[in-house]
Amino acid sequence: MSKQWWKESVIYQIYPRSFADSNGDGIGDLKGIISKLDYLEWLGIDVIWLSPVYDSPNDDNGYDIRDYYGIMKEFGTMDDWELMLSEVHKRGMKLIMDLVINHSSDECEWFVKSASSKTSPYRDYYIWRPGNGGQEPNNWESHFSGSAWKYHEETDEYFLHLFSKKQPDFNWENEALRSELYKMMTWWLDKGIDGFRMDVINMISKAEGLPDAAEVRDTPYQPAGDLFLNGPRVHEYIKEMNEQVLSKYDVMTVGETPGVTPDDAALFTGEDRNELNMVFQFDHMDVDSGPGGKWDIQPWTLSELRRILDGWQLGLEGRGWNSLYLNNHDQPRMVSRFGDDKEYRVKSAKMLATLLHTLQGTPYIYQGEEIGMTNVEFDSIDDYRDIETLNMYKEATEERGISHDEVMRRIYIKGRDNARTPMQWNQTKHAGFTTGEPWLAVNQNYEEINVEEAKTDKNSVLHYYKKLIALRKENPIMIYGAYRPLDENKEAVYSYEREWEGKKLLVMLNFTATPQVYKVPPGWMKSSCELLISNEAIHPSLEDGTIELSSYEARVYVK
Ligand code: NOJ
Repeated sequence: MSKQWWKESVIYQIYPRSFADSNGDGIGDLKGIISKLDYLEWLGIDVIWLSPVYDSPNDDNGYDIRDYYGIMKEFGTMDDWELMLSEVHKRGMKLIMDLVINHSSDECEWFVKSASSKTSPYRDYYIWRPGNGGQEPNNWESHFSGSAWKYHEETDEYFLHLFSKKQPDFNWENEALRSELYKMMTWWLDKGIDGFRMDVINMISKAEGLPDAAEVRDTPYQPAGDLFLNGPRVHEYIKEMNEQVLSKYDVMTVGETPGVTPDDAALFTGEDRNELNMVFQFDHMDVDSGPGGKWDIQPWTLSELRRILDGWQLGLEGRGWNSLYLNNHDQPRMVSRFGDDKEYRVKSAKMLATLLHTLQGTPYIYQGEEIGMTNVEFDSIDDYRDIETLNMYKEATEERGISHDEVMRRIYIKGRDNARTPMQWNQTKHAGFTTGEPWLAVNQNYEEINVEEAKTDKNSVLHYYKKLIALRKENPIMIYGAYRPLDENKEAVYSYEREWEGKKLLVMLNFTATPQVYKVPPGWMKSSCELLISNEAIHPSLEDGTIELSSYEARVYVK
């Protein structure tokens, strides 16, 4: 396995709209980000992943790009962006940009031209089809509810949008479109950025003929994942992109790829494949989803979570490289989902952080995770801003007859705005995020949970993250060590070893509030091992052979 800087890096995701507002308009911006770079350097971050900052009408908060060469006005100017990049580099950090090239905004010049007439040279930049006897061309459902097709009256055809109506899908089969996108990527790389996070990159190739999806729901529109994920030409396109663009730079890439197995991921990330460095898989994010998908919420079990992560750790071993994440801007807050965001908030957030930094792969920290930020419960649907949440609420209450209370319950658990409430910097009004009115309300717990407070408290989640990040740099076994799952007390404790160049790591994580008896694996009892990190102060040695792990305790030994 080769050593690479992007394997050794810890990545921090910034959702710019919610990070730091410098001008009091209630929306985070680039100058705000610049003002917080010292904080990220202090924490030990190597790479910043910036969610989209391109010019956009914000139907989906920037994941609908209008001008791929411009900066969103609310976030600042290109000069601000250039300054930000140089300030990031000055501090020895790197910057990767979000690349949204499965779709654009419908206000993108290319789409406007494409929609102007059936004979426009841009027509084939997007996916247009005639209606099917007055109906949509097929029964695919959009991720944001309803049909994935929108009728365009002027040219009497439908265009495909896997996300909102304002996010038309590009037609990757068109070579001219591909060249246009490669040109744009090259333009950004020439500005000196250090790579890309590629939005839903395994959706760029769709099943030939765009056939109907099988009916699994009692609604006109059907989930069509197997028809637009990992399509027949996806590897061909990514290889071409690599050859024409990426291979010319020393940059990192991470593809967002829902619905991939470790075997698929090995194809995307294999070192001899010349495609991507790593992908974001979603199996562990679906551990609490039922057959009806994300909003069909089911209880999750540790054994199922372990089964999934074992599959990824072992499945990619020596064949590719894992990305590691427990939340992001689309997912609920990690501590609310997998820990306990009340009594054991600090301790369980540290336990989860231990998992994040001791699996094999590159860890991604989402803003606010490092201080243990939690989910939010707004009283009214009007307080929510996320298009996915709002569309789902409307469809569920108006068309499916699901009660308001039940839909709100689901939003409290899974809604994307859980992760998008403003970053909590201090105890002042709006958590120091803005001096104006924030675009999305701040979580009311900001007086207790904020960066300033966490910095002064040596036992905070924040200091624990800082320590983990530093340990990862000093102990290459945390990065490169092979993962070996352990079977003891599987329902409550997640434990594994890592092995590398004659060294070993033992990780034990109690995922419950109940103390757990744990039988120490052979080879650790009598050996002289050292406690590397723990979220619990007192530790009897391992020599007795059986130990008790306290509520949400995490312990890592090395020998
Ligand atoms: C995935 C992004 O992470 C999400 O925020 C967005 O809504 C969709 N892709 C569409 O771009």
